[in-house]
Amino acid sequence: MAFVIAVAQQKGGAGKSTLASNLAVALLQGGKRVALLDTDPQASLTRWHSIRPETAPKLIFEAPSGWRVTGALDKLRRTTDFIVTDTPPHADTDSKIAIRAADLVLIPLQASLPDLWASEATIALAEAEKRLHRLVLNRLPASGRLRDVVMEELARRKTPVMAETLGNRSAFAAAFALGQGVTESAARSPAADEIRALAAALGMLKGK
Ligand SMILES: Nc1ncnc2c1ncn2[C@@H]1O[C@H](COP(=O)(O)OP(=O)(O)OP(=O)(O)O)[C@@H](O)[C@H]1O
Ligand SMILES: [Mg+2]
Repeated sequence: MAFVIAVAQQKGGAGKSTLASNLAVALLQGGKRVALLDTDPQASLTRWHSIRPETAPKLIFEAPSGWRVTGALDKLRRTTDFIVTDTPPHADTDSKIAIRAADLVLIPLQASLPDLWASEATIALAEAEKRLHRLVLNRLPASGRLRDVVMEELARRKTPVMAETLGNRSAFAAAFALGQGVTESAARSPAADEIRALAAALGMLKGK
């Protein structure tokens, strides 16, 4: 039975599609049966998937919208280990459907207070639906005052955060442009190490 992960964040450009594609690829390389669903009308992942090299490991890929998202998930749940769903920005119906159907909601967050404030709606939605949810700090500076301010604010709010974080790394955009994940295009990079660590941690959450 699949573990369904919805990657959601109403703030645009937070890293949803980057996180979804890289996680899906890392889980696939780890020998899991993985489906990736693009429910965003912007269709970033559909285009990413269309340029995936012929030789790359095959993901199950679908781009359902609206009520079809639930049907696609029901169909894939029995035959896969992980389903990763990318969602549109804005708290619209499609992201609500994906959150409702998820076992885990992953919320990428760039380290700034405006980004944190903008993510409140997504966190509230996951809480309202009683879905397990975790923030994933993305483009996190290695050090500095901003990092400390955001970490302190998250700790004060007791918002659940993955211990694994992603740095601000050009390897992510480079991999995306090739239809790949960083664990394929730059397998020995720090970006790939971060994604593999996150994928391993999600495997532990699935087991719980
Ligand atoms: N960790 C990172 N390091 C460097 N660049 C990143 C990182 N994560 C995302 N980006 C870049 O930020 C931009 C936005 O990322 P992405 O498209 O994944 O966000 P999104 O949340 O899916 O956006 P949208 O809300 O429009 O769907 C892209 O150019 C991507 O390459
Ligand atoms: Mg996107």
